Amino acid sequence: MARVNARTPRYFDPSVPVDDRVKDLLCHMSLEEKVGQMMQLDARGDLDDQVVRMHAGSILHASPERVRRAHELTLQTRLRIPLLVAEDCIHGHSFWEGATIFPTQLGMAASWDAGLAERVARATAVEVSATGIHWTFSPVLCIARDLRWGRVDETFGEDPFLIGELASAMVRGYQGGGLDDPTAILATAKHFAGYSETQGGRDASEADISQRKLRSWFLPPFERVAKEGCRTFMLGYQSIDGVPITVNDWLLNDVLRGEWGYTGTLITDWDNVGRMVWEQKVQPDYAHAAAAAVLAGNDMIMTTPGFFQGALDALRHGLMTEEALDRAVTRILLLKFEFGLFEDPRLPDRERIAAAVGSAEHTALNLEAARRSLVLLRNDGTLPLAGGVTADESGRGVSPHRRRIAVVGALADDAQTQLGDWAGGSGQADWIHSQPRQMITTLLDGLRAQTPADWTVTFAPGADILTLRPDPEGEFFTDGQPRPAIVTPAEPDETMIADAVSDARRADYVVAVVGDRIELVGEGRSTATLDLVGAQRALLEALAATGTPLIVVLLASKPLILPPAVTDAAAVVWAANPGMRGGQAIAELLLGLIEPSGRLPISFPRHVGQQPTYYNQIRGQHGDRYADLTQRPAYAFGDGLSYTNVEYDALWIAEDRVEHDGAVRAVVTVRNSGARPARETVQVYASDLVTSVSWADQELKTFRQIDLAPGEEAHVEFELAAAAFTIVDADGHRVVEPGEFELRVGPSSRGSTQLRARFVIEATAG
Ligand code: NOJ
Repeated sequence: MARVNARTPRYFDPSVPVDDRVKDLLCHMSLEEKVGQMMQLDARGDLDDQVVRMHAGSILHASPERVRRAHELTLQTRLRIPLLVAEDCIHGHSFWEGATIFPTQLGMAASWDAGLAERVARATAVEVSATGIHWTFSPVLCIARDLRWGRVDETFGEDPFLIGELASAMVRGYQGGGLDDPTAILATAKHFAGYSETQGGRDASEADISQRKLRSWFLPPFERVAKEGCRTFMLGYQSIDGVPITVNDWLLNDVLRGEWGYTGTLITDWDNVGRMVWEQKVQPDYAHAAAAAVLAGNDMIMTTPGFFQGALDALRHGLMTEEALDRAVTRILLLKFEFGLFEDPRLPDRERIAAAVGSAEHTALNLEAARRSLVLLRNDGTLPLAGGVTADESGRGVSPHRRRIAVVGALADDAQTQLGDWAGGSGQADWIHSQPRQMITTLLDGLRAQTPADWTVTFAPGADILTLRPDPEGEFFTDGQPRPAIVTPAEPDETMIADAVSDARRADYVVAVVGDRIELVGEGRSTATLDLVGAQRALLEALAATGTPLIVVLLASKPLILPPAVTDAAAVVWAANPGMRGGQAIAELLLGLIEPSGRLPISFPRHVGQQPTYYNQIRGQHGDRYADLTQRPAYAFGDGLSYTNVEYDALWIAEDRVEHDGAVRAVVTVRNSGARPARETVQVYASDLVTSVSWADQELKTFRQIDLAPGEEAHVEFELAAAAFTIVDADGHRVVEPGEFELRVGPSSRGSTQLRARFVIEATAG
């Protein structure tokens, strides 16, 4: 901390009000220092040049050593302005060796549990803040609709309401008690907005999306976190209607800053400013691109080194004014002062790191998150294995029955793939190539550890998935990001399949673990198909033919097309990328040591050509099927089974007419009529029966989670304000249209599972 004396500039004095400190500092800053303050640079580059010559305000992707080095460099600068250090801590502290890596966002979303998401984000912030990182680029609020897109795993799925619930929980978790909380980190709502609405699933392609469509589905989760105080927003890569988001005046100024009154900080995505010159070709040079970005209201420019000279040229040529620059710099400095970085730059703290990173407490939370993220999609009664085992004092299963399990599939023991994207081994950071193997429990590890001591567990990989070859276009894209290798699906290998089949024939059960690998997931890694890649399908067919009960575990970052060998299997569990404790959680589920409770946050299609299959599609089309295939998904949003049976009955609405400013109160009876406990997610959808413009047939409005012991019955009550039953009208206004509505309550978005009751919202008096 700087000692204040008579010669110390005023901005260093913590007793001076923050606004005055900012003004004072601005007066000391040269144009170069102001421009530099707007820049966030990739710390894998020349740090001295970035901090000392370009006066960078922020860095990202800094290895632990580079975080310290960068700080030392700021002390050599004239004004000693501290850096904001940012990182993609996406589902845990992704690139910190030994950090707790939780299930991916999509896996977390399957828990439908905002409280859990908040605790996961809090634990992440406690780990991240100890390591000198101030800012995470999480959570993702994109709506996943085209499953070919490579970043579906980073989302909370397909429903705006569920996304809003979970995203705001994560924001609360990251930001903790506010910026003066030493364990707080800045959250980022990204990618604002419509980035996921890609064409053909191609990453960052032009999004064909109207303002009304944005307001209907894509903006509501962002509006929610903006109003709840998410301190930063990251702008998407894509253009809409020909305008890159970086300079979309309507979205940034009219909507975000204007209508929502957002006062937080805007950061571009990776080289969005340069991209307008070299990729989208909508700006002739960096001077024009820099001026356009500043004038549109961007504060922090991510990884566009050319912004430095570009912005200086823009100022010199009158393309923008110093006042415009000052507005952005003010917002960055405010963040730094509010964070207290001038007093305490929040450097890595050895003791806190030792206590927090990968702690036992976080490991236990991680196991809880993994357990809650698993979705049982199908079960003919084979699960839990041997009718379910009980646990001894050490947690290991005990059973009167002796069983032999053939574990098959390379993914059953692929520790890094189990973690998914943004997790050490996923290639975005060059100082870490994997997370410690001993911190990860694969499913094979889990079954070996959890099955009763006298059971036999064998393992055969059975099938290769893919091979990689370098892209002849080069190792890096023009923007410096790594270019993914080209995937060649593996051919079936008869010997490998024969080994797996021989294990299967001798076993009581086959547990086949199939899905995708990191090389098929992530930025720039969209897939043309949603098939199980390589020899996995042939392997499954051979296993199914043995007649041994087949349990399929999908270690799949996103919904994939399931061949008949899977849909006809004895049981199917989707585990997404369940994080470090995933293998233990799955083993416990298969053995009946825990109950399945996850629900799909996203639909599973039957065929890639059905895209998109999200449940809340707009009403109106001729027919409801393709000539050659149903339009129904294989598994719908909200689906998920328990090991017991939960019945819904007697949906009752308290008032059948509701005032415009009133609320609908309803109650439904749920009964566990089976023999095992359940955690049931009671889902409440609404249908506006007649709308002035076309609208979705139903939308999720709320949900409740309830634990039911065998035989237990509960009355689940909920209240929804009439104001929640909005549509977006033809003029783009979100309104409640008086008239008749239907509540649909049940265990899933599938109409056949729901109870229905109607009510009327009255027009406003007068
Ligand atoms: C680009 C990605 O789109 C974004 O999500 C990420 O936060 C930045 N790169 C920084 O790594």
